Amino acid sequence: MTQKRAYTGDYADKTLYLPGPTEVREEVLDAMAQPMFGHRMDRMTDLYTEIVENTKSFLDTDDDVIILTASGTEFWEATTLNLVEERMLVPTSGAFSERQADVAERLGKQVDRIEYEWGKAVDPADVRAALETSDDGYDAVGMVMNETSTGVRNPVEAVGDLLGEYPDTCFVVDAISCLGGDYVDTEAHNIDAIFTSTQKAFAMPPGLAVCTVSDAAYERELGADSASWYGGFQRCLDYYDRKGQTHSTPAIPLMLAYREQMEHMLAEGHHERDRRHHEMAEHTRDWAREQFGLFAETGFESQTVTCVENTRDIDVAATVETVSEEYDMLFSSGYGTLAEESFRIGHMGEHTVESVRALTDAIEDVADL
Ligand SMILES: Cc1ncc(COP(=O)(O)O)c(C=O)c1O
Repeated sequence: MTQKRAYTGDYADKTLYLPGPTEVREEVLDAMAQPMFGHRMDRMTDLYTEIVENTKSFLDTDDDVIILTASGTEFWEATTLNLVEERMLVPTSGAFSERQADVAERLGKQVDRIEYEWGKAVDPADVRAALETSDDGYDAVGMVMNETSTGVRNPVEAVGDLLGEYPDTCFVVDAISCLGGDYVDTEAHNIDAIFTSTQKAFAMPPGLAVCTVSDAAYERELGADSASWYGGFQRCLDYYDRKGQTHSTPAIPLMLAYREQMEHMLAEGHHERDRRHHEMAEHTRDWAREQFGLFAETGFESQTVTCVENTRDIDVAATVETVSEEYDMLFSSGYGTLAEESFRIGHMGEHTVESVRALTDAIEDVADL
């Protein structure tokens, strides 16, 4: 049984190269330390409308945006409850897409999976085949854009394009570990809802979740009699329209941090941010190919999380531990059963090629490569 342990406050600062949480700017942390105010004050409307509208500008979308106090997992539940009456198609290729399918099943939906070996990417032709052969069609296709467990970047654009021929099927994209570091044009690719958690490529503290909502998704919810209460698109967006606030008390300090960080993200712009992440991913991949191997299928490697295949059979747990102790840098072992077969480097948010190189140098040193 878990025993109580004391939080001493005495911990070394570690530079985070996890697939989230990731590094957060000092100014963003400082922005949280303000006297509290009420969530029905005008000041809250100023704050919430600013962060919502700035997020739309950053993502370059006219779709609606909801920012909720929750982790991104909330939007697996909410999108399923809001958009899926009966049937959902979920291609699974790693831990998170499997969980997306599980969540929908627990909510009583009929889920058809297209199963791939971990490390492989979703093939749009398989999605098309499933849609074509299904007798009753699907209310939604749910897909993970960036499989954090395997470092695979799935081709959501191509799947979204083919879904243009299926207007009754909504497209729900979990972009939790890449949005903000891997640009996708949601409207051009028929994405009805795409969501993330703030502790990933947005480089904010954890605790808020962000989701875009297309007009079609908003309307679709009208027909559902079991839509989510907390994450109901209509409840959230109607409240925003009327009051410019959230329907229940939000984590105000996190929204202050969000406001500060969104200023930096807007100043950089999504094109430049995408380019910087591309550069970091290339550096990490080149290093991984030279020293080890890549776990992800060639051509589908993530722009924010590289999953390195442990071809040299190093002791991953010990390497992670020693790099943490000696260099105060934290990266991740492989996910679940892949713990020793692979390790993962999060190159997202505030990181740069230089900061990622500092980690890859440290790994080389510790693992004696
Ligand atoms: C692809 C993906 N989906 C969902 C989640 C769950 O996100 P959260 O813990 O913020 O709810 C994660 C977390 O790492 C993830 O990487």
